[in-house]
Amino acid sequence: MKISLYQRLAITLCAAFMIMASLLIWWSNSLVQQSKYQAEQKLHLHLAEHLAHDNPLLQDGVYDKAALENLFHTLMLLGPAFEFYFLDTQGNILTYSADPAKIKRQKVSLIPLKKLIEQPQKAPIFGDDPRGINTSKIFSASPIYQDEKLQGYLYIIIGGEIYDSIFSQVQDDKNLQKYGAFVLASLALLLLLLLVVFHYFTRPVKELAEQMQALKAVQFDQTQVQLKQWGDSNYGIDHNEVNFLGATFNDMVLQINQQLSLLTENDRVRRELLAHLSHDLRTPLATMQGYIETLAMKGDDLSSAEKQDYLATVQRNVSQLKRLIDQIFELAHLENGQVTVNLETFAIGELLHDIMSKFTLKTANKNISLTLQPQPCQFMVFSDIAKLERIMTNLLENAIRHTDSGGEIVITVTHLIAEIKVSVTDNGSGISKEDIAYIFDARYRASNAIEDNTQHAGLGLAISQKLSRVINSELMVKSELGNGSSFSLSIPLQS
Ligand SMILES: Nc1ncnc2c1ncn2[C@@H]1O[C@H](COP(=O)(O)OP(=O)(O)OP(=O)(O)O)[C@@H](O)[C@H]1O
Ligand SMILES: [Mg+2]
Repeated sequence: MKISLYQRLAITLCAAFMIMASLLIWWSNSLVQQSKYQAEQKLHLHLAEHLAHDNPLLQDGVYDKAALENLFHTLMLLGPAFEFYFLDTQGNILTYSADPAKIKRQKVSLIPLKKLIEQPQKAPIFGDDPRGINTSKIFSASPIYQDEKLQGYLYIIIGGEIYDSIFSQVQDDKNLQKYGAFVLASLALLLLLLLVVFHYFTRPVKELAEQMQALKAVQFDQTQVQLKQWGDSNYGIDHNEVNFLGATFNDMVLQINQQLSLLTENDRVRRELLAHLSHDLRTPLATMQGYIETLAMKGDDLSSAEKQDYLATVQRNVSQLKRLIDQIFELAHLENGQVTVNLETFAIGELLHDIMSKFTLKTANKNISLTLQPQPCQFMVFSDIAKLERIMTNLLENAIRHTDSGGEIVITVTHLIAEIKVSVTDNGSGISKEDIAYIFDARYRASNAIEDNTQHAGLGLAISQKLSRVINSELMVKSELGNGSSFSLSIPLQS
C-alpha cells in the first residue's frame, strides 16, 4: 500500500496526539491525587499524636479493648473520613472501629509508620490498609507508651472507605467532565490545525513527486511533459527548499535532454562520417582491384606501355588510400585526446620558409605567387613545430587548390600583445556564407570544392582545427565568395 508523505505525517501526528492526550490525562490525575494525599496527610499529621495525648486511656498507655472500641466508634461518628486502629508493637491489629467482616488484614507493616513518625516531611507516605489485602492509604500514627515502654501504635487511616466513595462521586462532577472535554477539544483542534498546515506545506512536495513520476513515465523526455515553474510566490514563501528542489530538478531534466540530443546528433554525424569515409576508401580500392585483376588476367596480352600505365594508376590510388587512412587515424587520435604536445621556442620565420619551399613546384606550375610578410620575419614563438607545420601545410594546400592561375597567396605575420597572428590569405574562389559555418566539420566539402579525382576527403580543416586547439590556439576564417579567403592562427610569443 502506498502511503503519501502527508498521510504518514497525519498518522504519526494523530498517534503522537493520542499518546500525548493519554499521558496528559494520566499525569494530571496522578498530580491531583498526589497533591490531595500530600495535603491530607500533612493536615492530619499530628491527629494521632493529639488523640493519644488528649485521651486519658491512651495517654497512660493503658490498653483496654472495650473502652478503645467505644472511643473509636465515637470518633468515627465525628470524623467519618477516618478509620482508627490500635496496633501492638509488631503491627498486629488489636482494636478497630469497624465491622469485623471488612477487616482483611490482621497485621500491618510498621515500616511506613516509623518513617512518617521520624520523617514527616516525606509525606505522602502510604501505609497498609487493613480493609484491603493489596491497598495502601495515607495515615496518621502515634506511638503509645506506658511508663516509657512502648505499648503499641494508634494508626488512623485518612480518607477511609466512606471518604473514597464520596470522593469518587465528586470526581464524576460535571465541572471536572467539562474541564476534561475542554482539554480534549483543544487538543483535537490543535491536531486539526496541524493537519491543515501539514497539508498546505506538503502539497508542493506532492506536486514535485507527481511531476517526477510523469517524466519518468515518458523516459524523462521533457518535450512530452509541461514542466511546472518553481520558485515563484505560489506557496507564499519564495525560495523555499521545495521550490529550490523543483527548479533544480527542472534544470537537471533540461540539461539531460540537451545532452541527450547532443549525443544523438554526435552519433548521427559519426555514422554519416563513417559511411562517407567507407565510400572514400572503397573508391580507390575498387579502382586498384580492377587494374590488378586486368593485369593478372591479361598480363601477357598487354604492351609494356599499357602495363606501366596500369601500375602508375594503382600506385596513385595506393598513395591516395594511404593519405586518407593517415588522415582518419590522425583525426581519431585527436578526437580521443591521444596527442602529446612538444612545446619549444623557435623562429617562426624559418619554419614558414621551410613550409613554403615544399610548395615551390606547385605554385610555379599554377603560376601563383606565394610570399611571406614582413620580410625578414624574426619573431621567436613558443609552440609545437610539428603541429604548426601540419596546420600550415593544410592551409597552403587548400589555398593553392582554390586559387586560379596567376593568383596570389600571402602569409602574413602580425605582432599582437603577447602573441603573433599568422594568416594565409588568397585571392581565390572564396567560400559562401552558407558553407563557411561547416567547413571545419569533418568530411564537409563546400560547394566550391575542386573535384580533383576524389583525392580530397574534406578532413584537412577538421584536423587543423583540432590541432590548433591542442596547442591552445583557435583557427579563424574570413572569406567572401569570389574574393578569396583568409585563415589565421594565433601563436604565443616566447615568454
Ligand atoms: N582557401 C580556400 N578557399 C576556398 N575554399 C576553401 C579554402 N580552404 C578550404 N575551402 C573549402 O573548405 C572545404 C574543406 O576544406 P578541407 O581542407 O577540410 O577539405 P579538402 O581540402 O577538400 O580535403 P582534404 O583537406 O581532406 O584533402 C574545402 O572542400 C573547400 O570547399
Ligand atoms: Mg584540405
